[in-house]
Amino acid sequence: MKRYGKASDVVRLVDRPAPTPRPNEVVCDIAAAALNPIDLRIIEGDLKRIDPYRMPHPIGFDASGTVRAVGSQVRTFRIGDEVFVRASRETIGTFAEQIALPFSFFALKPVDLSHEEAASLPLVGLTTIQALTDRCRVRPGQRILIHAGSGGVGSFAIQFAKAIGLHVATTTSSRNTQFVRDLGADDVIAYDKQDYLQGPTDYDVVFDTLGGQHTLDAFKVARKGGCVVSIAGPPDRNFPDQVDASFATRLVMRFLSRKVFAASREKGIRYYRFLTESDGAQLADIARLVDQQRIRPVIDQIFPFEQLPEALVRLSSKRARGKVVISMAHT
Ligand SMILES: NC(=O)c1ccc[n+]([C@@H]2O[C@H](COP(=O)([O-])OP(=O)(O)OC[C@H]3O[C@@H](n4cnc5c(N)ncnc54)[C@H](OP(=O)(O)O)[C@@H]3O)[C@@H](O)[C@H]2O)c1
Repeated sequence: MKRYGKASDVVRLVDRPAPTPRPNEVVCDIAAAALNPIDLRIIEGDLKRIDPYRMPHPIGFDASGTVRAVGSQVRTFRIGDEVFVRASRETIGTFAEQIALPFSFFALKPVDLSHEEAASLPLVGLTTIQALTDRCRVRPGQRILIHAGSGGVGSFAIQFAKAIGLHVATTTSSRNTQFVRDLGADDVIAYDKQDYLQGPTDYDVVFDTLGGQHTLDAFKVARKGGCVVSIAGPPDRNFPDQVDASFATRLVMRFLSRKVFAASREKGIRYYRFLTESDGAQLADIARLVDQQRIRPVIDQIFPFEQLPEALVRLSSKRARGKVVISMAHT
């Protein structure tokens, strides 16, 4: 990205020096990378208070590829290993032919997947595990409402929740109802035909991927003592520390969160809002679930690397069914 702005104006393919590994790093030849809405938010400058990037700056979080070189301290990977990875906010740059990242971010790619399929999993998979397992501590038999079940996060989250024994309700438009059923959803609410607020009000967990009014409304459909976990709503109490916010930003965050904090207090419902962290061990867990055929990648569309701008337009439509992926295979 040349500067912050509209993706079509500021994203360009340029030549940069090939990376060499630091002692704890792996250099990966990238075969495919996946897009995430956060790429657009970064490009448009929405996150510049949290993560100011020096321009020009590479972009992209998810990748799958082959290990090209390893640093002197790396014991867990060897040249030629097929791996998948999610970069951190400090190390983004997977929309590229190569990247150097800490070895602890990587895991071996699920054996039966193409690189395009493997690249589609890391960010959405880590987000789901960090929301449902690390924060809400879900248990088999619990009931969960997952918003936007047909999206990148939702399509993974439905499968993960089923794999660990939850009862899954999800919202989507009527054109995607069969699609989310095929992913395993038990109850499907077509938001253009039904109002989910008229349905059950005793979910153990609500996974809010939409934000806005959906975050506040989550407290109307979660049971007392339940859990609302959001990846699009206002900050929770730990969020300012997670992003190392300034005093002024903390005050703004506090103001933005006042209504959810009140709702959370009133109903005794835990509220979480977090940014995803890179974690190779959790990626290995995801690879295991894929190898056991309990989770499969869901790809909306694959674009060649040169068509990254077109891929970003597809993502920005907010209509993707699963993941938008770019392939470097032919570059
Ligand atoms: N840790 C984090 O902070 C974190 C991590 C990952 C993602 N996120 C955020 O989470 C959000 C979702 O990410 P994503 O990758 O899943 O996005 P996405 O793939 O672009 O979501 C597109 C999907 O959303 C569905 N959708 C749109 N409006 C809807 C509505 N009102 N009700 C139900 N479904 C709706 C669409 O289905 P229809 O076409 O059927 O409407 C479409 O399939 C984004 O805001 C992203 O920035 C945050």
